[in-house]
Amino acid sequence: MSFRTTSVDYVEDVSPGSGALPPRAWYASSDAKALSLNGSWRLRVSATIDAEDDSFAGEGYDAGDWAEVSVPGHWVLQGDGAFGSPIYTNHLYPFPVDPPHVPTENPTGDHLRVFDLPADWPGDGGAVIRFDGVESCARVWLNGTDIGEFKGSRLPHEFAVGHLLKPTGNVLAVRVHQWSAGSYLEDQDQWWLPGIFRDVTLLHRPAGSVGDFFVHASFDHVTGEGTLRVDSDVDGRVSVPALDIDVATGESVTVAVEPWSAETPKLYDGELVTAGERVPLRIGFRTVVLEDGLIKVNGRAILFKGVNRHEWHPEKGRALDLATMREDVLLMKRHNLNAVRTSHYPPHPAFLDLCDEYGLWVIDECDLETHGFTEQAWRDNPVDDDRWTPALLDRAARMVERDKNHPSIVFWSLGNEAGTGRGLTAMAEWIHGRDSSRLVHYEGDWDCRDTDVYSRMYAFHDEVEKIGQGLDGGTHKRRDLPFIQCEYGHAMGNGPGGLADYQELFEKYDRLQGGFIWEWIDHGIKHPELGYAYGGDFGEELHDGNFVCDGLIFPDRTPSPGLVEYKKVIEPVRIEGDGADGTVRVTNKYDFADLSGLAFEWSFQVDGKTVEAGALSVPALAPGESADVKLPEPPADAQGAETQWTVRALLAADTAWGQKDHEVAWGQFPASARPLPTVAATDRPTASEKLIYLGPASFDARTGALKTIGGVEVTAPRLDVWRAPTDNDDGAEWQTDTRYGMLWRKYGLHRMRHRLDAVELGDDALTVRTRVAPAAWEVGLATVYRWTSDGTRLKLTVSVTPEGDWKVPLPRLGIRFGLPQADAVRWFGGGPGEAYPDTRLASMVGRWNSTVDELQTPYVRPQENGARADVRWVELGGLRIDGDPEFWFSARRWTSEQLDAAAHLTDLTPGDTVWVNLDHGQHGIGSQSCGPGPLPQYHLRAEPTEFSFVFSTAR
Ligand code: GAL
Repeated sequence: MSFRTTSVDYVEDVSPGSGALPPRAWYASSDAKALSLNGSWRLRVSATIDAEDDSFAGEGYDAGDWAEVSVPGHWVLQGDGAFGSPIYTNHLYPFPVDPPHVPTENPTGDHLRVFDLPADWPGDGGAVIRFDGVESCARVWLNGTDIGEFKGSRLPHEFAVGHLLKPTGNVLAVRVHQWSAGSYLEDQDQWWLPGIFRDVTLLHRPAGSVGDFFVHASFDHVTGEGTLRVDSDVDGRVSVPALDIDVATGESVTVAVEPWSAETPKLYDGELVTAGERVPLRIGFRTVVLEDGLIKVNGRAILFKGVNRHEWHPEKGRALDLATMREDVLLMKRHNLNAVRTSHYPPHPAFLDLCDEYGLWVIDECDLETHGFTEQAWRDNPVDDDRWTPALLDRAARMVERDKNHPSIVFWSLGNEAGTGRGLTAMAEWIHGRDSSRLVHYEGDWDCRDTDVYSRMYAFHDEVEKIGQGLDGGTHKRRDLPFIQCEYGHAMGNGPGGLADYQELFEKYDRLQGGFIWEWIDHGIKHPELGYAYGGDFGEELHDGNFVCDGLIFPDRTPSPGLVEYKKVIEPVRIEGDGADGTVRVTNKYDFADLSGLAFEWSFQVDGKTVEAGALSVPALAPGESADVKLPEPPADAQGAETQWTVRALLAADTAWGQKDHEVAWGQFPASARPLPTVAATDRPTASEKLIYLGPASFDARTGALKTIGGVEVTAPRLDVWRAPTDNDDGAEWQTDTRYGMLWRKYGLHRMRHRLDAVELGDDALTVRTRVAPAAWEVGLATVYRWTSDGTRLKLTVSVTPEGDWKVPLPRLGIRFGLPQADAVRWFGGGPGEAYPDTRLASMVGRWNSTVDELQTPYVRPQENGARADVRWVELGGLRIDGDPEFWFSARRWTSEQLDAAAHLTDLTPGDTVWVNLDHGQHGIGSQSCGPGPLPQYHLRAEPTEFSFVFSTAR
C-alpha cells in the first residue's frame, strides 16, 4: 500500500506540537472502559529521523523482523545495547547548542502495536489515546492516519481517535525521536533515556462523559469547616457520602470536616457523576496561603522535611511501576520525611495519588530546565525568547491541569535551573490565574519576581542563618517572603554531613521553612560487569561520572546511612533527658498531629546491654508542646559500669505506612559515666635476638613492630591518616580552595612514609619513636608508640606531635593494623550503621553484632565508609580492643588505597588480610560535592594528641 510521507520539520519546531487535545485532569473512571496498550511492542531503531519512511504506520505493514520491547520502557535499556546506550550529563547539553537544532544523528525509535478492542467495548461514544510520557518527541498514527505529534517528555498528551478505531487489527504507530527542540527544555541532571516510558492507554469517552474538572476543597481553621466546589466542563453532581454532600457541579457547599495535612492525610471518598460517566474523587480539604511572610496550611506554618525525587529504577530507568512508587512513599514516611519536590518534572500521576493517600507535601515541578545555557551566560535561553513561550505555557498547563486535584500539592514549580526570563513570568502569571489555591515556586530567580517563596539551593549554613534573621537584603518582595532550600544536603556517596546543623537553623528561625535533600535515589544502572553503572560507563564522549549517584537510597532502594541520619535529624519528637535527675523532656515537633499515635518506651542499659525496659506514659501533647516525664528508679547493681537511658517513640498501632512499634524517634542520655580501661604497667619488656616480648605480645626486635598478641598474628599497627576520599571530600569543581580530597593528595597524605627513629626498652614499657611524613613537604607527625602490659593485656599509647605548618586538616588520625582473619564483629558503641563527626546523630550507643562484610557501605563509587562512632570496645579476629577514649572503628578486606583506586564495587576483591582502623579522629563529611564542606567544628586539625588502646584476647 502507498503511504504519504510526512514532513519531519516538527522535530526542530519550537511549538509544543499539533493534534493533541487540550490538557485536563488525570483520573481513572469508574465505569468508562479503558484499554491499556502497555506490553510488548515492535521496535525498530534508526540512526536518523529520516532513515526510514513512515510506511510502517500504514495498515498491513509486516514488522515481523523487528525487535520486541516492553512499553513502558526506554529502548536504550532494552536489548543489551543493541539499540544504543544511555548518556549521562549534568547540565551540559550532549549536543551542540544551536537552538532549536539538534544533531543529524538522532536515534529514532519506530514503535508498533496492533490491538483489538475488547468484545465489550461500546460501539458508541468517542475514544482518546493517552500517552503519559514519551521522551522527547513523538509522531503518532492510528490505522494509517497521522493524528499528531508532541513534545514535553514527562507530560500527558491525548488524541481523539474514536473515529479511527476498528473492532480488530488497530495499528498504533509511534515514531519517537531522542532529540528535538524539546530537548533544549529538558536539560535536567539525569540520564538521557529515549522511549515511551509511561503508560499508553485507550480511553472510551461515552456521550456525556466527564471532561475536565477542578476540585476546590478548602479548610477554614477558625470554623473547622471545609468548602467544596467541583467545577466541571460537563455538568453533573458531586456526592461525598461521609459528609452528606450531594450538590451540582459548580455549587459550593460548606460543612464541618477533618482537614487534610501531610501528617493527617484525611481523604473523603466522593464521586462526580455526569450523564455519561462516574469518576471517583478523593477529596482532601486544606488551605494553603502566604500570610505574615510564612507558608501556612490550615492556619499553621509548616516545616518541610523533604527530599528531591527523580523517578528511578536501576533496570527500568524512569519507567516505574506502582509497587516501586509505593515503596518510595513508604520509605519516605518511615524515615520521617513529610515533603517531596518532584525534581524536575511532574511524576507519574499515580505517585501523586500515593502522596495524597499517605501524606506528603508536594512541590510539583514542571518539565523544564535549560541549565546548559549557563555556559553561554544564558544567551539564547528559551525562557527569555518569545518564540518558545507557547511551549512553556503548554508545559505549565499540562502539569497544572493534569495534577490540580491533588490535595498533596501545595506548590507549583516553574521548573529548575532555567535562568530568568519573560517565558517564566508568563508561566507564573498563567498558573496564578488558573489556580489561586496554591503557591508558585522557582529557584532560579533570587529576586523572586514570579514566586511566592524565596528558594535557594545549597546555601551554606551561615548564609541560611542570615536569611533566617532577615539580614540577607534582597529585593523588597523577597524580604517579605519565607525561605526554603529546594535543594540542600548533597547525598552523593558518603554523607551528606551537616544536616543536624541545618535543622537547628530551620527550627530556630520562623522564616526558614525547611528544605529538600538532594536527592532521593542514586541513578545507578544495573550492569553485568560493574555492579551499577554511572556516567562514562557507556562510553559517552561527554559525561559527569558518578554525579548521577547522589541519593539517600542506593539504586536497589536500600536506605543509605544518609537516609538513616536524616530520619533522626528530622524526627517529629524531641527526646532529651537528664540521667542525673531522672527526667526526660518530650517535645512534639509535628505541625498538626498530637502524640496520641505514639507509644513511648524507656530502657536502661548497663555497659550497652538492656537490663530493663518498660512503657513510659507521655501525655498526648499538641504540636509545639513539651512535657517533663519522670523516669522510673534506675535498676540497681550497676556499680562500676557505664549506664544509660534510652527512650523511644514508637507507632502505637499499625498505620497506613508503618507497623505498630515502628520507631519514629529516640533519645539517649547517660546515667553514669564509663570507667576507662586501666592497665597497670607491671610487665617488663624482654628481648631475644629477633623478638621483644611484653605481656601477651611479641615484637620485631629491630623495628619494634608488633607481631603477635596471644596466638593472633598481626600486621603491625602504624599511624594512619589516609582515607579514600569521599565524593564530598573531593568537592565540586567550582570550590577550588577547600577541596580537601585534592589537597590531601597534593600534600601527600596518601603516601606518608614512616621513619624509625628509636626502639627503646624501658623498665615498664617498649617505646618506638617515629616520624610520619610525606615526600616533598616539611610537615610531619612525630609519632611515639608506647607499649605496656600487666601480663595479660597490652596497652598501646600513641602520641602525635605535628611538625611544620599544616595547611590542611587530616582525613583521619589513628592506627591501622592487619588481622589474618576476622569475620564476626561485636562492639559496644555507636551503631548499628556508620557515622562520621557530622553524620552521627543516628548512631545509637549499644551492643552491636555484625560481620566484616556487612560493615561495608556499598557506595556506588567506592570511597571511605563504614566507620562506627564512640566505640568503647570491639571484638574481632580473636582480639578485644578497648579504647581510651572511645574511638572510631572500621574494618575491611582491602586497604584504604585499594578502596581509593576502585571505580566500581566490583573492583574490590577481598585480600588475605582484614585491615582494621582504630581512629581517634575523623574529618567531617560535609556536602561539598555540591554545597558546603564540613563546618569548622568538624575539621580534624593536626594538633598534639594522645590516645590509647588496650588489646587482649577475646573473651
Ligand atoms: C542542582 C540541580 C540538580 C542537581 C544538583 C546536583 O544544581 O538542580 O538537578 O544537578 O544540582 O546534583
